[in-house]
Amino acid sequence: MRKNIVAGNWKMNNDLPQTEALISDLKKQTKTSNAEVMIAPAFTNLWQAFETTRHDDIEVIAQNMHFATNGAYTGEVSADMLKSIGIQTVILGHSERRAYFNEDDAILAKKVDQALSKDLRVIFCFGEELADRKAANHEAVVASQIQNALFHLDASAFKNIVLAYEPVWAIGTGETASPEQAQDMHKFIRKTLNDKYGNQVADHMTILYGGSVKPTNAKEIFSKPDVDGGLIGGAALKAEDFYAIVNAF
Ligand code: 13P
Repeated sequence: MRKNIVAGNWKMNNDLPQTEALISDLKKQTKTSNAEVMIAPAFTNLWQAFETTRHDDIEVIAQNMHFATNGAYTGEVSADMLKSIGIQTVILGHSERRAYFNEDDAILAKKVDQALSKDLRVIFCFGEELADRKAANHEAVVASQIQNALFHLDASAFKNIVLAYEPVWAIGTGETASPEQAQDMHKFIRKTLNDKYGNQVADHMTILYGGSVKPTNAKEIFSKPDVDGGLIGGAALKAEDFYAIVNAF
């Protein structure tokens, strides 16, 4: 089912007191849109965040997880660990994981399989780099990222997947894809899904845009027909800004 979602990816920001303070500020905001609201704090703060939002219209989600069920993977966190504290959704494939932690399509395919096998919903991120766009190669890059990590799945698996198109050149740079660039790519993503799985999957897929979304540009980006929401970095760290984006729908 296609939904409107605004998810805040806090990345490696906010210790426990800061997490509690931001959640307290978030609770003071008023939601006037129908968008689902999600926040992704750091692993160490997930439990506390989950507990303190239990009765609120905010889903706490994880930023990452390992592909193995358990074992000798020092420093890693498993799907079962996330599930055991109530987490139901995990972000996978963020460009920062790809760039700094060498997560390639093959690793991400394994992570997606593991998450889905544990009944976690996946927000799967992908997007081209600036050089790809300058070379007019952005559609091919995005298609291959989706195909390599997801196209081994059955159509039924896609009901537990949300896609997040995040052009790397727009992340944390202040440079946003224009609403037209976002729409063109989201339409292309839907066509890529349609070609492989048909319109039942393509039309129902929720596709988020991420990359320098701010209160000032959210409304225009969200007004595009194939943009179903946003994955928000910097602007998710201020409650007023985040809810201005949530309410841009
Ligand atoms: P910014 O909103 O800070 O550009 O980050 C986007 C992002 O990476 C969300 O996952």
